[in-house]
Amino acid sequence: MKSRLLFLGPPGAGKGTQASRICQNKRLLHLSTGDLLREEVAAETVLGKEAALIMNKGELVSDEIVLSIVEKRLIGDFQKEGWLLDGFPRNLIQAQSLQGLLQKLEQPIEGVVLIAIDDQILIQRLLSRGRADDNEDVIKNRLKIYREKTAPLIDFYHSLGLLQTIQGEGSVEEVAGRIEIAMI
Ligand code: AP5
Repeated sequence: MKSRLLFLGPPGAGKGTQASRICQNKRLLHLSTGDLLREEVAAETVLGKEAALIMNKGELVSDEIVLSIVEKRLIGDFQKEGWLLDGFPRNLIQAQSLQGLLQKLEQPIEGVVLIAIDDQILIQRLLSRGRADDNEDVIKNRLKIYREKTAPLIDFYHSLGLLQTIQGEGSVEEVAGRIEIAMI
């Protein structure tokens, strides 16, 4: 069973939902840059105040901020059985920096799971969740940014022989079953 994983997919695909389940069951470190940034926002830190302005527009927070958060966690949490990155990397610069960091740590990625899903389904899911960045205009911008900046990572990880695509529609249990197979 793979234990150093990365989830790719558009906003609302179910990355966070599935990552939480797997990490609880398999004792993996769940590293969600979105959750870590929202913690900073809730604590009203300087970083959080800066990040909130960007997140509420659906834009990407700077690579510098995100990379420093990830590096600290990956280096600090090695007692876990492995890790699952959710929402990171988000562009090619982040992906290349991650490759360099993991090489240094001798902890290469074992698998990348792309959760593919129809736009209409994910828009409905996000509108019913109602987070600060879940209104129609911001969702459209998050999707645009995903296509421009994050989708090129599909080819990046495919060319490394790491990518597996699963369908994200259906119940949480159905999607979890597909991911379980992809993780073997
Ligand atoms: P982030 O928190 O990463 O948001 P996202 O990628 O837009 O992801 P979501 O949480 O919206 O979707 P998800 O795929 O995790 O789906 P979920 O399981 O939650 O990022 C937020 C912002 O932070 C970014 O816009 C950016 O500004 C910043 N940021 C974060 N990382 C960054 C980085 N690396 N670099 C720069 N900036 C960064 O599910 C969504 C909803 O659907 C939930 O309500 C859930 O209950 C429901 N649901 C899930 N699965 C199902 C199912 N099978 N059936 C029915 N409902 C379901």
